[in-house]
Amino acid sequence: MKIITVVGARPQFIKSAPVSQAIAKAGYAELIVHTGQHYDYGMSKVFFEEMGIKEPLINLNVGSGTHAQQTSQMLVGIEGFLLSHTPDIVLVYGDTNSTLAGALAAVKLGIKLAHIEAGLRSYNRQMPEEHNRVLTDHCSDLLFCPTQTAVNNLDREGIQNGVHLVGDTMYDAVLQFSQLALRNSLILESLDLKPKDYLLATIHRAYNTDSSTVLSSILSAFQQVDETIIFPIHPRTLQAIKASNITIPPNVRLIDPVGYLDMLTLEQNARVILTDSGGIQKEAYFFKVQCLTLRPETEWVETTASGWNILVGTDPAKIIAAINSPLATGLPHSEYFGDGHSSETIVKLLGS
Ligand code: UD1
Ligand code: UDP
Repeated sequence: MKIITVVGARPQFIKSAPVSQAIAKAGYAELIVHTGQHYDYGMSKVFFEEMGIKEPLINLNVGSGTHAQQTSQMLVGIEGFLLSHTPDIVLVYGDTNSTLAGALAAVKLGIKLAHIEAGLRSYNRQMPEEHNRVLTDHCSDLLFCPTQTAVNNLDREGIQNGVHLVGDTMYDAVLQFSQLALRNSLILESLDLKPKDYLLATIHRAYNTDSSTVLSSILSAFQQVDETIIFPIHPRTLQAIKASNITIPPNVRLIDPVGYLDMLTLEQNARVILTDSGGIQKEAYFFKVQCLTLRPETEWVETTASGWNILVGTDPAKIIAAINSPLATGLPHSEYFGDGHSSETIVKLLGS
């Protein structure tokens, strides 16, 4: 079987790494297309190096742009690649513009399409990710859902054929790489941090970065906290902070985006994680670290069910109150995200 994997953004490299390993183990051929949506070393290549992902056969170098510019350039590039390499199946991951472009290119050529991390819904149509997810799910032949909620979401939209509950490949990745991270990462030493003595923050969602009022409101909340906040900053957010001349509070330490091993180490040792990232909400849950989500809703509803994750939005009063409330003891922690072998399950299903 010949598989073409389309990736392009940071979380997709992470999600795909364990699946690529399982594909290689099964003896299938995998050709990787990198759309070039993310291109800085710290947003792309570092993950290939640290996670041992093989070199993409092609990088379309699409880079940044409007949604239409990005998606249309990817579509043309992916189509050309699919025509010359004639795969049996195309794999796409998550909910970025690279996901949608890979999906459209495949289905228009009549090539079987598999969506990994299918069925997620925030039910917020202002998020570009929500359009990408819905459209991709509705044209996929195989829909690999990480959770039962995702299966139920698809069912409500009339999608039952090809749906498989497989668990979350990000959980596979965390299980595989977190011990390595603890052994090899020197990030705590290099930032002079003690375990559980700092907070970790990430922000990159358009609705948080593209309004200077919202971004200032989040940072004003950070300023009113007594603890150090480590903030690996997404390039989009750095640009927004610079463009709006927002002052960084003295307790907030901006650092460049970090590699996966450093990020896992920072997450495991943080007292609290503040984020609008999808992947980081889950990783906080895996590590049993309190997560405060800087969004009004989440597609990862399992993480909020028992209090590990709290939706605080962007109101400073809510953020500060939640940071200062100690995490309740004895919170239930169910295995919502599979058994850590979802990648192998996916590859078995691809071959069946
Ligand atoms: C994208 C995804 C989002 C995902 C996120 C993961 C879409 C619509 N959004 O958002 O779902 O959660 O990736 O991080 O696909 N930039 C750089 N260097 C890079 C990459 C980006 O400087 O290597 C800057 C550019 O100015 C660019 C901006 O970041 O315009 C945003 O990048 P883009 O890929 O369009 O969206 P993300 O916010 O990264
Ligand atoms: N991540 C990382 N370094 C960073 C920030 C995030 O390695 O500086 C990892 C994080 O551990 C998670 C993934 O990137 O596995 C999440 O990606 P991101 O937040 O960019 O996107 P989202 O999950 O929101 O789509």
